[in-house]
Amino acid sequence: MASGTAVVQDPLTPDARRAFLVGMKNRTVAAVGFVGAGRLAASLALGLVEAGYRVTSVASRQLDSARALAAALGPDVEPTTDAARVAEVSSMVFLSVPDAAITPVCQSVPWETRHRVVHCSGALGLDALDAVTRAGGIAGCLHPLQSFPSRSPEPERLRGVCCGVEGAEPLGGELALMVTGLGARPFRLDGVDRRLYHAAAVTVSNHVVALASAAGRLWALSGLPEQLAREALSPLLQAASANVGQMELAAALTGPVARGDVATVEGHLLALAVDPELRELYRALSAELLRLPLSLEAGALSRLRELLEDVHRAE
Ligand SMILES: NC(=O)c1ccc[n+]([C@@H]2O[C@H](COP(=O)([O-])OP(=O)(O)OC[C@H]3O[C@@H](n4cnc5c(N)ncnc54)[C@H](OP(=O)(O)O)[C@@H]3O)[C@@H](O)[C@H]2O)c1
Repeated sequence: MASGTAVVQDPLTPDARRAFLVGMKNRTVAAVGFVGAGRLAASLALGLVEAGYRVTSVASRQLDSARALAAALGPDVEPTTDAARVAEVSSMVFLSVPDAAITPVCQSVPWETRHRVVHCSGALGLDALDAVTRAGGIAGCLHPLQSFPSRSPEPERLRGVCCGVEGAEPLGGELALMVTGLGARPFRLDGVDRRLYHAAAVTVSNHVVALASAAGRLWALSGLPEQLAREALSPLLQAASANVGQMELAAALTGPVARGDVATVEGHLLALAVDPELRELYRALSAELLRLPLSLEAGALSRLRELLEDVHRAE
């Protein structure tokens, strides 16, 4: 993990709450607009309205999308298909469009020096918003480490989650304040390798789905009915995930590697010969576990290393 700049601030402390209220009173951001009315925008925009921000307008490719979100935000919010109209009536504009559309949409708007323009992509740096800086405005990023699967606004999904923020001052500070107002926890992304940062988020969120898929295939190969896999394995997945959130990783780990149970791991690898791809996945993930500070007896550790880490091992 990159170190140094990424300090998480806890919005729930009285000091952070006080700083938010003082900041809100003195804030220079008068009006917030959205270009993009999808899943992220729905929850973020309603969260901002609930935190006391004034959302002026929402643009989307299809007027119906903009209308649906504007209606959820309040009677004064203007729906439009014109991104330039959002810029006209807002000083802070979120480009909450898909990653591939951020730069083209940004280049299509006549920005001015008064604009702060923010994207919500974890993978893209601020260079995606070069058109804003060229026009004398300030570019920024606000990236919630959360998944928003639906267009129904769910601002509660933001509460307690960490949000990366980036931007030259005063925008960086304004975004941190905004995150606090949303009930989330800001940390700075300045200087962070965004591809690796985003790969970390993808690994923990998307790859859990890949693990569930692999476990389902193993389940079926074992002879059990496929349709029972999700119901039977989900409680295990949820318990493991809760443990990861509550304790050190080495303490959260249970199972044969944590116990130094070499014979069980050998048995798994032998049985996994039925599907070499699943066996390699099992081996790679188990080898990652050996990086944890586990209390294993030296003989068991060295045998597990031979089994799991030696890519040139004899089959
Ligand atoms: N969803 C998440 O879980 C999540 C989490 C963290 C960060 N993010 C980030 O949030 C951003 C938006 O993602 P999303 O999941 O909310 O996307 P989404 O649900 O697909 O919504 C995208 C919105 O942008 C509009 N749009 C697409 N192309 C456009 C264009 N060329 N001009 C104007 N509007 C356009 C769409 O319009 P129509 O509806 O009219 O077609 C839609 O309203 C991305 O940068 C993503 O990385 C998303």
